Amino acid sequence: MAAADAASLLAARFGTEAPAQDASAPDASVQDAPVPAGVAALLDRRVTRRYRDEPVSEALLDLLLAAAQSAPAKSDLQQYSIVVLRGPAKIKRIADWIGTMDWIASAPVFLLWCGDMRRGQRLCELHGMTHANNNLDTFLNTAVDCALAMGSFIAAADAAGLGTCPISYVRNHIEKITPLLGLPPGVFPVAGLTVGWPVFRRPVSMRLPPAVVVHRERYDDTTLSTEIAAYDARRRAREPLAAGSLKNNDVHGPKDGVGWSENCARQLSVPERYGFAAYLRTRGFDLA
Ligand SMILES: Cc1cc2nc3c(=O)[nH]c(=O)nc-3n(C[C@H](O)[C@H](O)[C@H](O)COP(=O)(O)O)c2cc1C
Repeated sequence: MAAADAASLLAARFGTEAPAQDASAPDASVQDAPVPAGVAALLDRRVTRRYRDEPVSEALLDLLLAAAQSAPAKSDLQQYSIVVLRGPAKIKRIADWIGTMDWIASAPVFLLWCGDMRRGQRLCELHGMTHANNNLDTFLNTAVDCALAMGSFIAAADAAGLGTCPISYVRNHIEKITPLLGLPPGVFPVAGLTVGWPVFRRPVSMRLPPAVVVHRERYDDTTLSTEIAAYDARRRAREPLAAGSLKNNDVHGPKDGVGWSENCARQLSVPERYGFAAYLRTRGFDLA
């Protein structure tokens, strides 16, 4: 991307002229800060939900996967696996199961990012020991390792001009995806990731103000409701939500003028993927 100044990148990301000013921060001149190219790319990142009919070379994909594996991993245990799909038939099957995201089938590459406790179990076995950590902590460690690797892959793909979109909906079809990709016990999907050459770049998606997310010295959300009201108004002005496309319209009904926070509440008011813990238990996690 062309060199961009911090002020315009931050204005796009946060929707305000003075996005990251925080009275309690010692240095409030972020808008004048020099922006290294790698940081500018991160500030400007967006998901891609439509791909050109053009392959991604094996060499480039392998390079990006190596970048993913360069992410930090808890205790160097490296407890994740990535299943690479290049065959359009399997990618289409997953897109069809999901049903509402037909663009997934336009991606030349689909990656399934998995938490992996099995490799550690096998290492114990190889060395004549019992794996004594089929627990919730291991579940979290595998998911965190996996997410960090996926984040590194996304940044590397962006740097190469590719687009990506994570797909949590693979977990809505976990009972079919598990046998389709031969996932053994101890290995579970965290997310899918579509990868390909973007047809177009989507607009930058506006983020919560740093004052809500970044806490200085101690956690403090006393200004949450006023900050959220202002954020809702900024987002509504840039990209109003259509009444017909709100979360859980079948439960709460379509409504005009809904902002980001009410839409989040509509999503979070209905349980998602209720059987996930039961699935994990069938895969050997005791979650204790
Ligand atoms: C773990 C994870 C799962 C996601 N799952 C989906 C998904 O199933 N379908 C989809 O279209 N987008 C999915 N997304 C993309 C988010 O909707 C997107 O990141 C968000 O709307 C913000 O847009 P941006 O990434 O362009 O800033 C997912 C993102 C993450 C991090």
